[in-house]
Amino acid sequence: MSAGHFLTEFISSSPEETMALGERIARFLHQGSIVALRGGLGAGKTYLTKGIARGLGVSEEVTSPTYTIISEYEGNLPFYHIDAYRLQGDDDFSALGGEEILYGAGVSVIEWSERISIPEYAIIVELEIRESNHRKILIRNLER
Ligand SMILES: Nc1ncnc2c1ncn2[C@@H]1O[C@H](COP(=O)(O)OP(=O)(O)OP(=O)(O)O)[C@@H](O)[C@H]1O
Ligand SMILES: [Mg+2]
Repeated sequence: MSAGHFLTEFISSSPEETMALGERIARFLHQGSIVALRGGLGAGKTYLTKGIARGLGVSEEVTSPTYTIISEYEGNLPFYHIDAYRLQGDDDFSALGGEEILYGAGVSVIEWSERISIPEYAIIVELEIRESNHRKILIRNLER
């Protein structure tokens, strides 16, 4: 565990609350920040991403990038929404220019981040479905 390691837990009761949490997370992000989202189908990864994008000044609507794998948006910083679900691994990601994006000057949010290798300074967010509209959301490594 690194010195700055800490963990914060939230319960969200609606998609709107998950988006609002994303907006709060956005305040901690800067050039090169990587947010790695973990959690199964329908856990709320895309809703959290929509909130982060809003917090970063992206005005365009963020939609699920499942088929495009990587979507780029213009905000206060370049904003990349990556859906690694269909990637077979790091070679696939590299072929799409993944490293240039992760190690570039924008902010990257990755759904299904467990499919690829990510740097250890990434902020990891785990979303877990509780009953109906409730989601447990755990954030690791969030620091300025
Ligand atoms: N508290 C909540 N936060 C987020 N989404 C919620 C919540 N409660 C219910 N939902 C519903 O769960 C679904 C979450 O969808 P979302 O696309 O964000 O999931 P995802 O994790 O990105 O899934 P996928 O792996 O398919 O991309 C939506 O249908 C949303 O309405
Ligand atoms: Mg999604």
